[in-house]
Amino acid sequence: MRPVFIGASPNTEKDDIKLAIKLLFQPWNWRGDKENSVNRFEKMVSEYHDGINAVAMDSARSAFYLLLKAYGIGPGDEVILPSFSCLVIANPVIWVGAKPVYVDIDKETFNLSLEDLKKKVTNKTKVILVQHTFGLPVELEKVREIVGKDVKIVEDIAHSLGGIYKGQKIGTIGDASVATFGIEKVISSVRGGMVLVKDYKIAEKIRKELAIAPHFSFVRTKIALLNPILWSIITPVYYVGVGKATIGRAFSFVAHKLGIMGIMIEKCEYDTQKPSWIPARMPSVLARLGMNQFGKLDRYNNHRREIAKIYEQKLGTFKVDQNSTHNYLRYPLLVEPEKRSRIYNIASKNHFVLGNWYKNILYAPDSSLEKLGYKKGDTPNAEWVAERIINLPTAVNISRKSAEILTEALENQK
Ligand SMILES: Cc1ncc(COP(=O)(O)O)c(C=O)c1O
Repeated sequence: MRPVFIGASPNTEKDDIKLAIKLLFQPWNWRGDKENSVNRFEKMVSEYHDGINAVAMDSARSAFYLLLKAYGIGPGDEVILPSFSCLVIANPVIWVGAKPVYVDIDKETFNLSLEDLKKKVTNKTKVILVQHTFGLPVELEKVREIVGKDVKIVEDIAHSLGGIYKGQKIGTIGDASVATFGIEKVISSVRGGMVLVKDYKIAEKIRKELAIAPHFSFVRTKIALLNPILWSIITPVYYVGVGKATIGRAFSFVAHKLGIMGIMIEKCEYDTQKPSWIPARMPSVLARLGMNQFGKLDRYNNHRREIAKIYEQKLGTFKVDQNSTHNYLRYPLLVEPEKRSRIYNIASKNHFVLGNWYKNILYAPDSSLEKLGYKKGDTPNAEWVAERIINLPTAVNISRKSAEILTEALENQK
């Protein structure tokens, strides 16, 4: 059986690899092409989201940064954020000089706690970033009631692209949203992000800033194109060998050492510093990969619902409704902290590498938390969940059969 890695290019299929290889050999098309791929990708995503203004760039962190700037957020302002998330999406608040304020989560939904939100809103609150964790929609109408009409609601649709909440596309309910096409997300262009914003003037401001932003470098573009190709070589041989001495592990080790696998979070970001090349424009080749994946969005999300249902039946407490209109980017399990590493090991013995979003507050080492404006105890539920969370894969790289094998291996272990 082919191994399943939750984070290593989980959305990549044969057509994506073929496209990446083709594009790798067309360096003259990397930055811009005559088909205007970046504009076409923006149009595609915009049309899917009821015609909302869409602006593409290198990542969601850049998208949030430029959006905050365009809204005029700065010193003296407060931005409410989930702490059960990743530091890269908190950093932009610090980059514009505003204060991040972290809201706790509900232990069952992993989404923001409305009770805690009531305590965190002040007259300095200008923006709230709302994450639909693992795809489950936040009740945005209740958030609006609490924050009032003047606070901008920005949806973080990293986990929830393609979902629908009460008849409305997720990403079109708030004032704006930020999307990522990072490697482990709903669809992947390896790197990439977009702002979706209702206010045309804000979209234009962002476009102007981007027009003078650096290009995504040739080296980074090459590394991004190589990523799905390399994983397609490493994955089938990852467990071929003796014990831990396997061909795939050796290949992966060398590729990482050579720096050709790319890095998602730069060292300076752990110190809340902005990498000098961010924000950057989206290269047209990554828009091409993104468009190819976007065409498969609904199929991928249907698949995720089916796989999540398999886990729920025997393992989970996270409810799965197959008639629901949202996705399940990953299936979350909560286990006693002392059992967690055993469960990873059992999964690994069966050739599954599970996920750990978000095993630390803001997915950050303790040494970064103070810089991020987070004090231990600020969000106790999120801290409790962080100690217990394990994520099971639901992407297209796991078949129903594999999900059943994983379920069987983990049953009785929780
Ligand atoms: C919930 C969430 N939002 C946003 C991001 C940022 O996406 P990007 O890597 O495109 O900046 C991440 C990254 O891991 C994330 O986990």
